[in-house]
Amino acid sequence: MAIRPIVKMGTPSLFEVSVPWPEDKFDSTELHALLSDMKDSMIAASGAGLAAPQIGENFRVVIFEVGDNPRYPGREHIPFTVLVNPQLTPVTDELVDDWEGCLSVPGMRGLVPRFPRLRYQGFDQFGGPIDRTVGGFHARVVQHEVDHLDGILYPMRIRDMSKFGFTEVLFPDLADTDDD
Ligand code: NI
Repeated sequence: MAIRPIVKMGTPSLFEVSVPWPEDKFDSTELHALLSDMKDSMIAASGAGLAAPQIGENFRVVIFEVGDNPRYPGREHIPFTVLVNPQLTPVTDELVDDWEGCLSVPGMRGLVPRFPRLRYQGFDQFGGPIDRTVGGFHARVVQHEVDHLDGILYPMRIRDMSKFGFTEVLFPDLADTDDD
């Protein structure tokens, strides 16, 4: 259990496609240790989610949770979720723009198109199936985290680069929460 450094944009491993977590290693010491480090690191950085590649482990494992988060004030709450080997299925063709940040791109925000509603499937840490259809910020967070597993960072999806900038300029009230 440890807070690990967050890997930042520019590091080649963030742009790799991560490998699936091995099916025979659910409920293992290795997976529980990885998830414990991911959770400690996410909480320490006030993240809404974290993907394993962000602590240098290129496996298809993400976690997310939104409570009263100073980096995302007023957003709907999302229960703490462990999602291993996820599959996403959009349930609409529409894309909706909204603001995102990323612990691997500190101090910045961008306007990113995402599916407003989608189904996600995968497994929890014990190998139990997860199958949810969600919308809003929950859907956005899942898409952002799963993008990390495919080597995609949110700036790569921004359509209008004038809507990508420093948090202290775009959202001065958030700036002191977002520069670690
Ligand atoms: Ni991110």
